[in-house]
Amino acid sequence: MAKIKIGVLVSGRGSNLQAIIDAAKKGEIAADIAVVVSNVPGAFALERAKKAKIPAVVVDSKAYDKKEAYEAEIIRVLQSHKVDLVCLAGYMKLITPRIMAEFHNRIMNIHPALLPAFPGLHVQKKALEYGVKVSGCTVHFVDEGTDTGPIIIQAAVPVLEADTEESLSARILKEEHKIYPKAIDLFAKGKLKVEGRRIKVKR
Ligand code: GRF
Repeated sequence: MAKIKIGVLVSGRGSNLQAIIDAAKKGEIAADIAVVVSNVPGAFALERAKKAKIPAVVVDSKAYDKKEAYEAEIIRVLQSHKVDLVCLAGYMKLITPRIMAEFHNRIMNIHPALLPAFPGLHVQKKALEYGVKVSGCTVHFVDEGTDTGPIIIQAAVPVLEADTEESLSARILKEEHKIYPKAIDLFAKGKLKVEGRRIKVKR
C-alpha cells in the first residue's frame, strides 16, 4: 500500500514522536515521517529524529519578530518535504488559521485528557484536583480552538487514589503511544470521514 508522508511538529522530549517512529519502522502504519520540525533548539525530540535518520529541522520561534514570518517558514519546510499530514506531538505553539488553511483537516494533535474535559495545559494535575475517576487521552483534528477539533480516537485510564501527577501522566502516556500511531494509520488508509464534529471510521 502507498504510504503517506507526515511532518511531526515538536517542542520537547518527543516520546510520542518515538512511538510514531517505531510504528513506522515496524510497518504498523501506512506512513513515513518525512520531517521533524522543532520550534525549540535542543529539544530532545530532535535527537530521536536524527537517530532514526529522519530530517530534523529547527525553526526557532524566538528568532522571529513576526509570527507571520515564523509560520511562513514552518509551512515552507512542511511543503518542501511534501507532507500529507501534520502531527503535533508536544508542540507548544498554537496553530493559526494560516497553517490550518494550508492543511485543512490534515493536522492532528494528541492531548493527555478525555476532551472536552480539561483542554489546555497541566491537565493531568487538573484532572487529579477535580477528582475525576477516569481520565485518558485524545487524538483529534486541529481546528481554530484550543483542543476543540473533531475527535478521532480516545483511550481511557483509571485514576487511582494514590496517583500523583507523575503516575497519572505515565499511565496516560502509555495509551498516547498506542492511539497516536493508530489514528495516523486510519488517516493514511483513507478511513476517516469527517462529518461536522463527528468522525466516522470506515471499516
Ligand atoms: C504529551 O502528553 C501530549 O499529549 C501533550 O504533550 C506531551 C508531549 O510529550 N500534547 P512527548 O513530547 O510526546 O513526550
